[in-house]
Amino acid sequence: MSATSGTRFLVFITGASRGFGRCLALEAARKWGPAVDMHLIARNAEALTAVKRDIEASLSDQSKIGVRVWTWPFDLGNLETLEPNFARIFATVDEFSAEQESTAMIMHKYGNVYLFNNAGSVGPIAYAKDLCTDLPALRQSLDLNLTSSILITSLFLRRFCTLSSPSNKVPALFIINISSMAAIQPFHSWGVYCAGKAARDMFLQVVAQEHQGEGSARGEGSMAGGMSVHLKTLNYAPGPLDTDMQIELRESESIHPPTREWSEKAFREGWLVRPEESASKCLRILTKNDFKSGVHIDYYDDM
Ligand SMILES: NC(=O)c1ccc[n+]([C@@H]2O[C@H](COP(=O)([O-])OP(=O)(O)OC[C@H]3O[C@@H](n4cnc5c(N)ncnc54)[C@H](OP(=O)(O)O)[C@@H]3O)[C@@H](O)[C@H]2O)c1
Repeated sequence: MSATSGTRFLVFITGASRGFGRCLALEAARKWGPAVDMHLIARNAEALTAVKRDIEASLSDQSKIGVRVWTWPFDLGNLETLEPNFARIFATVDEFSAEQESTAMIMHKYGNVYLFNNAGSVGPIAYAKDLCTDLPALRQSLDLNLTSSILITSLFLRRFCTLSSPSNKVPALFIINISSMAAIQPFHSWGVYCAGKAARDMFLQVVAQEHQGEGSARGEGSMAGGMSVHLKTLNYAPGPLDTDMQIELRESESIHPPTREWSEKAFREGWLVRPEESASKCLRILTKNDFKSGVHIDYYDDM
């Protein structure tokens, strides 16, 4: 199945205020405009608004008409507020997709829906024996880096796997975990980050397995309460990116010195990957859509 044929795109990106998430948003607008609705989530309201402005400035007048962006400033680490916040987002999706029916400028109803679980943080950076000294930091990291992505995925599955489409079109849903080499390779003093990334990868493998064989072609499948979706998950490791996260690593005093030295050298010698380039590769992989659901793909993989 091609992921782009004759459809309007609905895209959700967490951590879209800067770094890789910002680049994903700009690339999605460039690639999928003029038929994309985007919901951008992060804490910093001003930075999100700036990303929205950057998207608008990057588009031709024709594409601008069909690219709509909503910004949602809230803290994903505050788990109790996730459900109500996503209920507000979904209500907005409902409101504006109903509007599409009567709006000539919109050519199609949503066909492809993408959730990018991208938001993340590096800390706590500490050797395993020291993690017990700061329980709040440990909890905060796991809440944001692991539990929130599980919870958001679950909310999405509830919302979109029972989506019924009056136009007889069955949506294709893609859930993308922005993973890391740290999901498959251990790094001294970075146990919480590595464990979180490994768990996120496994979670999307389980989701892929739970939905195996469902709606494998449009119109097939048997989800209760509506038509089935074609659902695929992807764990995408974006490479070592030239973003704020790498600055944090270079400046960290508690990180294992060889890891910091590698990060400093990568920056000095220009090995860091431009987030724009990695975002473009991620969207190419999704558009081509010949990956196995649940797989881990790295930026450096030959795809
Ligand atoms: N940088 C790398 O070398 C690298 C390598 C492999 C994988 N990754 C992964 O790629 C993803 C993006 O990383 P990046 O390098 O772009 O990081 P970044 O520059 O530090 O950006 C992190 C993003 O997450 C958001 N965020 C952080 N905490 C949040 C919270 N509590 N609630 C809502 N949003 C929050 C930030 O926005 P606000 O501050 O506005 O909330 C920001 O938009 C992460 O999952 C990271 O683990 C990065």
